[in-house]
Amino acid sequence: MAPRKSSRKFSSNLGAPYLRNIRSDPERMKGTQFPFTIPAFRHGIALDLPTPVTFFVGENGSGKSTLLEALAEICGFNPEGGNRDHYREAREDRSELAQALRLSWMPKVTEGFFMRAESFYNFASYLDGVSDFTAYGGKSLHHQSHGESFLALFQNRFEQGLYILDEPEAALSPQRQLAFLRIIHELETPRHAQFLIATHSPILLAYPGATLYQFEEDGIQEVAYRDTDHYLVMKAFLNGPERILRHLFSEEDESDA
Ligand SMILES: Nc1ncnc2c1ncn2[C@@H]1O[C@H](COP(=O)(O)OP(=O)(O)OP(=O)(O)O)[C@@H](O)[C@H]1O
Ligand SMILES: [Mg+2]
Repeated sequence: MAPRKSSRKFSSNLGAPYLRNIRSDPERMKGTQFPFTIPAFRHGIALDLPTPVTFFVGENGSGKSTLLEALAEICGFNPEGGNRDHYREAREDRSELAQALRLSWMPKVTEGFFMRAESFYNFASYLDGVSDFTAYGGKSLHHQSHGESFLALFQNRFEQGLYILDEPEAALSPQRQLAFLRIIHELETPRHAQFLIATHSPILLAYPGATLYQFEEDGIQEVAYRDTDHYLVMKAFLNGPERILRHLFSEEDESDA
């Protein structure tokens, strides 16, 4: 595992979690079009964030990215990924969901970052254009593999603040996901950083002491790690891939018959 940079500066009087809860305004959640039609949002959004690490988990299309994007927007982070400095085209109009959400902070922080896996390449190009490469292990992010550049960013850019990450595992091998958990641990334990992470990774979800919210048809529910669909499916699969696959393909044969 690469050695960690040790020159971080923190102000000691602040402690994560900074963002304490997210509530929707019932009047503004009544829209009949996207994003208000997303089943998980139907009964409103009321999420407490008591721990520095919160995971959003749920099926594809259940609304995780939509919520993270709205939160990033409210925080003033670039919706394409980045921090406030990187948000060059400030949008006049907030998205409807951003307008419908109320955030409670203690204390309010402005430092932080929004990162989505799919726009990392563009973001890396932008960072390469404005940064000193020594900030990324002495190498342009484009001259590192996808996973290496992701981890270089995590290792060298994360400081105090709120980090909103959409599927950070996308580029990371299982070993690198463990390395990523170590970075979270290093920042979270002294309560310097707060993380809101949408993930499908049963490795990341195992982070001890995290709050897990599962996006479901009837709302966003707190869930224990071992009760998440992702943990259950992955565990069943790894316990017996052949059995699961046999079952899967026999269902297919039956439906063909
Ligand atoms: N701009 C849009 N207009 C209309 N519908 C949209 C728009 N963006 C997303 N959706 C729909 O909203 C739902 C939630 O999408 P979202 O991207 O938030 O899901 P997700 O939970 O992040 O999924 P995944 O795990 O695949 O990343 C999906 O059904 C999607 O098709
Ligand atoms: Mg998503």
